[in-house]
Amino acid sequence: MHLRCSNTECAATLDLHDRALSCPVCAELLEVVIDPPTLSPAELRRVWLERRCSYDPRDLSGVWRFREFLPDGYSEIVTMGEGNCPLIKGKKTAQWAGLGNLRFKHLGWNPTACFKDLGMTVGVTEALFVGAKAVGCASTGNTSGSLAAYAARAGLHAKVYLPAGYVSANKLAQVLDFGAEVVQVDGNFDAALAQILRDANDGLYFLNSINPFRLEGQKIAMFEMLEQLGWQAPDYVVVPGGNLGNGSAFGKALEELHAAGFLDKLPRMVIVQAEGANPLAKLWRSGARELHPVEEPETAATAIRIGNPRSWKKALRTLHRTNGFVMDVSDQEIAEAKAMIGRDGIGCEPASATTLAALRKLARQGEIDRDAVVVAVLTGHALKDTDFIVNSHLREPALEGVCCA
Ligand code: F0G
Repeated sequence: MHLRCSNTECAATLDLHDRALSCPVCAELLEVVIDPPTLSPAELRRVWLERRCSYDPRDLSGVWRFREFLPDGYSEIVTMGEGNCPLIKGKKTAQWAGLGNLRFKHLGWNPTACFKDLGMTVGVTEALFVGAKAVGCASTGNTSGSLAAYAARAGLHAKVYLPAGYVSANKLAQVLDFGAEVVQVDGNFDAALAQILRDANDGLYFLNSINPFRLEGQKIAMFEMLEQLGWQAPDYVVVPGGNLGNGSAFGKALEELHAAGFLDKLPRMVIVQAEGANPLAKLWRSGARELHPVEEPETAATAIRIGNPRSWKKALRTLHRTNGFVMDVSDQEIAEAKAMIGRDGIGCEPASATTLAALRKLARQGEIDRDAVVVAVLTGHALKDTDFIVNSHLREPALEGVCCA
C-alpha cells in the first residue's frame, strides 16, 4: 500500500506513512492506494460477518472489522467501538418525501455522536504510528469533538481551531470535556483551516479531511451499509457536503468495492449543500472548471457552513464516476426536513437533514423514481445542536409544511 496524488495526470507516489499533506509534485491532495484483497468477495463477506462474534477490539470496531481495505502496519490501534451504526427505515419521512424505499444510515450513533469517529480512529492511529505528540484540526464542531476524544484516548495533546461564535454549544462542550486546547478564530471555518495549515508542523499532526487516513476510515460507512443491504447496491446514496471529504470517501469505497467484485453496479452519489454555502452546487450548475469559493458562507446548518471546500476535486470525481450530482437546499427546507426526521423517532443534526430535504425536492420535481432504493446518510445526532431545535420550534413558521399526523 502507498500514497498517491489524487490528480490522475500526476499520480506521483509516496510511502504509505509519509507525513506529506499534499503532492510534492503538483500540490493536489493525496489518497491511500489499497492493495487488492487476496480473498474473494464471498470469503471476505464471511470473514467480516464472523468477526461480529469476536471480542477482539479490532472486530468490535465497525471500521477495523473491514481492515482488509484499510492502511496497515499498525501494532496499536485507537478505537472506541466506532461504526456499528444502524440502517433505519424511513416511515413518515418516506411518505413526506414521496419515496417508497428510504433508509437512513445513521452515523450519529458513533461514540462522539457523528461520522467523524470513523475517520478519527484511523487518523489518530496513524498519528501515533508516526510518533506525533499533538494532533490538530480546524472545525465547525464535529471534527474537533471527535479529534479531542480520540486524542484523549491515545494520550495525545489536541489543539482545535474553531470559528468563534459559529460552533454549537453542544459541540463546544464536547471539545472542552475531552480536554482539547481551543483556538477561537475570528472568521469562518475557511479562515480557521487556513490558520491551522499555517501553524501545522512536525509538532502538530494535522487531522482535517485533507489527511488521507481520515478518509480511509470514513469510507468504511459504505462497507457497513452494503453489508446491511446484503451487498445489493442502492440506487442512490445521499450525503451532506461541507468540506467535501465525506462524499469523496464514500465514492472511494464504492469504487474499490466495485473493482474488487463486491458490487454489480455503483449507486448514484448525491451530495447536498446548504444554499448559503454551495460552491460545488454552483460549479455544477454553471459547468465551470474551477471552484469559486463562497466568500461569506451562511447557513443555520453550521456544520456545513464552508465556502472553500478543500476536497472539491475528489468530490467532483466521485460524482462523475458514480453518475451522481450535487444540489442545494434552503435553510427553511433543512428545518422542515429535520423536524420530520425527528417525527420519525430518528432525529439528526441540521446538516444531516439536507439529505431528506433534497430527496423531497427531487421527488416533487419527478427527478427520482418513487420506488428507487435510497440511502440517506445522517451524519450527526440530534443532540449535537439543541439550540437549533428549540429555536426552530419557538419560531413557528419554520416548521410549516411538516405534517404531524
Ligand atoms: N455533516 C456533519 C454533521 C458535519 O459535521 C460535516 C462536516 C458534514 C456533514 C460535511 O462533511 O466536510 O466531509 O463534506 N463537518 C466538519 C467539521 C467540517 O469540522 O466538523 P464534509
